[in-house]
Amino acid sequence: MSTLQSIKEEAERRIAEAVGADALEEIRVAILGKKGELTQILKGMKDLSPEERPKVGQQVNEVRAALEEKLAAKKQEIKHALLTERLKHETIDVTLPGKRVVRGHRHPNQIALEELERVFIGMGYEVVEGPEVEYDEYNFKLLNIPANHPAKDEQDTFYITRSPEGTDKDILLRTQTSSVQARIMKQGKLPIKIISPGRVFRSDAVDATHSPSFHQVEGLVVGKDVTMADLKGTLDQFAKEFFGPNTKTKLRPHHFPFTEPSAEVDVTCFKCGGKGCSVCKGSGWIEILGCGMVHPHVLEMCGIDPEVYSGFAFGIGLERVTLLKYEIDDMRLLYENDVRFLGQF
Ligand code: DAH
Repeated sequence: MSTLQSIKEEAERRIAEAVGADALEEIRVAILGKKGELTQILKGMKDLSPEERPKVGQQVNEVRAALEEKLAAKKQEIKHALLTERLKHETIDVTLPGKRVVRGHRHPNQIALEELERVFIGMGYEVVEGPEVEYDEYNFKLLNIPANHPAKDEQDTFYITRSPEGTDKDILLRTQTSSVQARIMKQGKLPIKIISPGRVFRSDAVDATHSPSFHQVEGLVVGKDVTMADLKGTLDQFAKEFFGPNTKTKLRPHHFPFTEPSAEVDVTCFKCGGKGCSVCKGSGWIEILGCGMVHPHVLEMCGIDPEVYSGFAFGIGLERVTLLKYEIDDMRLLYENDVRFLGQF
């Protein structure tokens, strides 16, 4: 009994003096653990007489309960002290200046695209999107681009899958947004008046005017009595609104497999107004897009009767017009994401 009493007193003293949670745990193990002092006494009970056993057992249990209570109280006390200490260090000085949140803004390509969309929406166009991973059928076949056309070469096109016969089972990264033309016409809803901006891919090395990934904005109008005059008038209006009211347009004959006749369109240089300068390389004109009247065969393949309907289409190089509008001389600047450059727009 006296051993028990001295164990209790000694333990209480140690608990009261314990500094920190680790020290407290050590004390608990030394007394109540498997090899602890109290546990040893319980083990020694087999040597006692049957009359003494229950008394001692009861005493041990009382001591154990009392110590457990002390331990729990001390544990709580240590935890509380720790928290008070932490709060002292972690007080917030509300008078300190706040962290500045740097505000981002639109990329020049995006600014130009939104401006371009605004112009065409103003003329009654709908903005639609098509997939960047596309079937050969939409990217080439339905656009009258024959199997042996150089654009279909692996040097120009990124193929995802390629069928042995190289036909419409091919899946590729679209090389032009013109693929959306075929998709929209195939849907069979007429008339059509859409633009379709998006990313296109070509197996090109990076330089000042080339990138393996860039953007185009496709335009397509199909209806009754749509003529080349409508095309010219539309592009004229676009150029004036986008580059400035004095801008003139010029159609130069060209060839695209999916339009007949086809043209490339130049605008008067916005910098010199057509006199000739470094921006237009002395010619006074700058090329901005390809266009034409939708080829009757393309209409037919997409299920539209070319005897009843006609249409025009155009494809604007988005980076092209962005560079021109903001007088940027290297396309790479648009992709490098240097905020010192981008912050200027
Ligand atoms: N898809 C052509 C290209 O990538 C551009 C183009 C030309 C689009 C004529 C058209 C078009 O819709 O009619 O070079």
